[in-house]
Amino acid sequence: MGGVNDPLASFAALRTDEGRSLLDAVRDVEPSQELAAATRLRRDHPADLVSAALAQARLRQRAVAKFGAADAARMFFTPNGVEQSTRTSVATYRARRFADPGELGVRSVADLCCGIGGDAIALARAGIAVLAVDRDPLTCAVARANAEALGLADLIEVREADVTDVDTSAYDAVFVDPARRGGRPGGAARSASVRGGGRATGGRIFDPEAYSPPLSWAVEAARKAPRAALKIAPGIPHDAVPEEAEAEWISDGGDVKEAVLWFGTDAPASHRATLLPAGDTLVSPRATMLPDPEVRPVGRFLYEPDGAVIRAHLVAEVAARVEGGLLDETIAYVTSDTAVATPYATAYEITDQLPFNVKKLKALLRERGVGILTVKKRGSAVEPEELRRKVKPQGPGSATVFLTRVRGAPTMLVGHPAA
Ligand SMILES: C[S@@+](CC[C@H](N)C(=O)[O-])C[C@H]1O[C@@H](n2cnc3c(N)ncnc32)[C@H](O)[C@@H]1O
Repeated sequence: MGGVNDPLASFAALRTDEGRSLLDAVRDVEPSQELAAATRLRRDHPADLVSAALAQARLRQRAVAKFGAADAARMFFTPNGVEQSTRTSVATYRARRFADPGELGVRSVADLCCGIGGDAIALARAGIAVLAVDRDPLTCAVARANAEALGLADLIEVREADVTDVDTSAYDAVFVDPARRGGRPGGAARSASVRGGGRATGGRIFDPEAYSPPLSWAVEAARKAPRAALKIAPGIPHDAVPEEAEAEWISDGGDVKEAVLWFGTDAPASHRATLLPAGDTLVSPRATMLPDPEVRPVGRFLYEPDGAVIRAHLVAEVAARVEGGLLDETIAYVTSDTAVATPYATAYEITDQLPFNVKKLKALLRERGVGILTVKKRGSAVEPEELRRKVKPQGPGSATVFLTRVRGAPTMLVGHPAA
């Protein structure tokens, strides 16, 4: 009984005194030292337990990027759980919106599809009582262990059930983070288009009905609850956003992490782009969103909007703030002659405009002594690495080159980050 063939027993063994001391012993073992550590520890401990401890240590190391070193060292994970969980920065931001009396102001949330508890933990830390539901027994055991390890067991009740069977009527709000099948859940926005969206990264068609549970079920659950939030892939097509919902795209450190559909916020249905870690948030009611900006000649500055702004279709709002227009009607680069500090876009001063021509670029960079070349692109199939190899940058200077289109014409714009 027990051991590798019974994941629940194997996990329970990790939480015994012997399991804990093994976890401490393997905490900082590097991958290259694993074999030696395993051989040594197996002299005094069961082989299955040693393997489980080493696997858990590896998962904890992977989890540091999402949960930070302090929490990751105390928490437990499954491979899927660490992959699918919400990072602390995003979960904390959302939990504050749930808790804030000026926003949703809720005291209790049914977290439907809780996984190993990434969101449940953040909600509890915001002072919210959480019912955390998952149908996978091991995932529930891990979520329970995490609530205990972080001192949140009084606020988090973990229940093993299918979310479609759970009565949530006693809760102020529901939160649903469905499992997304088939590949990596929606990654960073890489779309070149000013109306980026509709396809997840890697060309996968966004299919919310392939979610478990399907998005249509989650929307119905949200509509029945007083307040709700649904976490979805950032590639959700805008026509799949229910008309009463606020759709929020969240980036962290410039990478788009997720979209959230909020229900019951008491505000007009809006689009919102939120940029973590600073928390700047740009919101526009759907009824009064600006039309696409006009296309203009290349000006002194190029503004590269954050991916969350692009996904939220708020490029026009940012263009208005910087008194800018578009370089091309299909590309989310904003051009302007005005320097305006904005958190929603990175500003570059453009010094040169060339038709797409690698030789001319190479000559220009030689003349300027550019050895450090940053290549950015939207609307170009050229691979940045390939371009860098061809132009062989040399010298003490640095520059940024944008490979893009200007009114449809393949163009290279050379510049540097605006001071
Ligand atoms: C994306 S993960 C949730 C991650 C979680 N929010 C976190 O931050 O750790 C989705 C979870 O939904 C669970 N799940 C999928 N369909 C379910 C259903 N019908 N009932 C209960 N749980 C379900 C899966 O077992 C998986 O753990």
